[in-house]
Amino acid sequence: MKFFVDTANLNEIREAHDLGVLDGVTTNPSLMAKEGIAGNDKIRNHYKAICDIVDNNVSAEVISTDYEGMLKEGRELSKIDKKIVVKVPMIKDGVKAIKQFTKEGIRTNCTLVFSAGQALLAAKAGASYVSPFIGRIDDISVDGLDLIAQIRHIYDNYGYQTEVLAASIRHTMHLIKCAEIGADVATCPLKVITDLLKHPLTDIGLEKFLADHKKANS
Ligand code: G3P
Repeated sequence: MKFFVDTANLNEIREAHDLGVLDGVTTNPSLMAKEGIAGNDKIRNHYKAICDIVDNNVSAEVISTDYEGMLKEGRELSKIDKKIVVKVPMIKDGVKAIKQFTKEGIRTNCTLVFSAGQALLAAKAGASYVSPFIGRIDDISVDGLDLIAQIRHIYDNYGYQTEVLAASIRHTMHLIKCAEIGADVATCPLKVITDLLKHPLTDIGLEKFLADHKKANS
């Protein structure tokens, strides 16, 4: 499973990259705003800065909601760096734009996906990634992980190449369950990745190993 970090914070992206397990980055307009990145030039420069840190797969989201606007914006974003994946919302014009980007060889991430039907449309349009939002589905008292399993099943039925990118991951259990189900990618805050490190028996075991070594060598 690929690990993407879901942030526009350069320090967090550097930390995740330095850990050696990072496969990409996802951003969205809210995450960019959280970092105070506003204005076309600053936004472009920030995406470039992210691309300079990671090896591949930097999702940059379009703001337009009409077909022509999305095409213009997506083409410009894709020229920033070959690592850019154009993130397009799951709306009618978005599906049409994904189809066109696919024809042009521009990779896409279809975002704001909350149903299997939407995921099917994204795959048929040729999206490189589909982003179902697990946490936000959980927030309305429906199990978001069930959607990941449903999409995995449907894509496997027909051999769709669209990668299932589980998004809106809030904690390690989400991530581990996604791995069990067979999501291709998990995107999450850095904390979820570093939380995977934690186990009290690891800490206790290490302490004992070091104490025994010290005793034997003193
Ligand atoms: O990748 C989508 C993600 O940023 C949404 O996460 O926690 O705002 O639902 P959240």
